[in-house]
Amino acid sequence: MSRSAYASNQVGAVAARDVLDRLDATFRPSAPVSSPALLSGRDSEHAAVLEAVRAPGRHVVVHGEAGVGTTSLAASCAASAGADGAVALVVACPEGAGFDSIWRSFAEECAVHLADRPDHGEELEMALGRANAALDRAAIGPGDARVALHHVLTAGPAMVVLDGFDRVGPDAAAGTTDLIGALSRRAEPVTLVVAGATDGGGTLLEVPPTVERALVRVHVPRLATEALAAIARDGLASLGMDATGDVFELLETASLGLPRYAHVVARAGARRALQRRSLGITVDDVAGGLRTGLVEADPGLDAAYRLATTTARPSRFADVLLACALTPVDGSGTFAPAAMRDAYSFVTGRVMDIPNFNPQLAMLAEGRGAVLARTGGGWRRRYRFRRPEMAPYVLLSAIADGRIAPGDLRGHIVGPARSGRLFDLPSDAPDVPRGTSAD
Ligand SMILES: Nc1ncnc2c1ncn2[C@@H]1O[C@H](COP(=O)(O)OP(=O)(O)OP(=O)(O)O)[C@@H](O)[C@H]1O
Ligand SMILES: [Mg+2]
Repeated sequence: MSRSAYASNQVGAVAARDVLDRLDATFRPSAPVSSPALLSGRDSEHAAVLEAVRAPGRHVVVHGEAGVGTTSLAASCAASAGADGAVALVVACPEGAGFDSIWRSFAEECAVHLADRPDHGEELEMALGRANAALDRAAIGPGDARVALHHVLTAGPAMVVLDGFDRVGPDAAAGTTDLIGALSRRAEPVTLVVAGATDGGGTLLEVPPTVERALVRVHVPRLATEALAAIARDGLASLGMDATGDVFELLETASLGLPRYAHVVARAGARRALQRRSLGITVDDVAGGLRTGLVEADPGLDAAYRLATTTARPSRFADVLLACALTPVDGSGTFAPAAMRDAYSFVTGRVMDIPNFNPQLAMLAEGRGAVLARTGGGWRRRYRFRRPEMAPYVLLSAIADGRIAPGDLRGHIVGPARSGRLFDLPSDAPDVPRGTSAD
């Protein structure tokens, strides 16, 4: 939409209020998607999970970087299986959970499942009631879980998602492995879907080869830019809104493939636009609404950023983190300090070299909440953000504060490093001699 078209895009106060009321249900940066219709760009992963659900004896591990959308994929698959007639339950694994507490949560979920369906049949009520009773014991082991699942099966095929499995303790993993082994040997029509974040190439659930044969591992990659744009485009269309091309460009570049930030950008911009009673979002709306939007989306991440960058005297921590977020990463999501030169020079407006930012890099990996993770030593030393979502947070935060302009991200890329300079420095940028700290 052109800028002039926005002039006629004004609405009355009541209409703007109405759209504002629907905004929270449309863009949900803090809640997983649980409907296939709202799941963007995951057709192949969705199909792979459902294929395994239909194959007796198969079980699934859904894994990917934190924040990439593993819960959303698993929950949407559960919704699809439920629509196909399965009894599909999603269990959120408590932090540090043992096997026992996961299956206590499962028992609760059975009760919630019934409460959510007030017109459920007697058969389902009996099946879930018996499952609940089978778990009503002092300590729950894999055998008890298997009996409970057998009861569920009397009401139809079953699918159980154990979500947030990255948070569980070792006993939970061992019990789940035993349970999967027992279920797959009998090829029972129940599918366990173990979902969670894997950091730096972990497997989420390590199992012996006999059990591995029963597993389908579905990796959830970062979202393609088209799928990120679709989150905003479809959501805005459902609200009768639209945005300029540079809003989409910002969303595609700054989100770095993490879907939460497509929701954050669209919602922040939409709220601002509606406050000025427009249905058309401009990039200024986004920049103006981002600060609030970022804090609301993930207060913990915001607090971690403040811990990393707040100092009594002026410091370069915020600049160094911004340069980290602007630096292209290699295939494993890390970068060498040398790769940061251009980005740090760009951020500071002066030609900079490794000694100018190396001390801050080390401090951000060792203290200040350890927002960076460091691997290797000497010339092999590499860094990455410990929480992947910190990188888009840092980029959008810099835009909210006016430290960079949305267009500055245009040259920014996701994925393997490319050769050549990322940013063009002004030709009159002063040179900082090597070995001099910029602080
Ligand atoms: N395919 C998708 N389409 C649209 N929105 C998505 C998609 N995947 C995830 N989201 C959104 O991204 C955010 C994070 O999703 P989700 O909670 O599923 O991620 P996660 O990988 O489980 O995160 P965590 O590692 O913190 O558990 C949520 O706001 C969710 O609505
Ligand atoms: Mg999750």
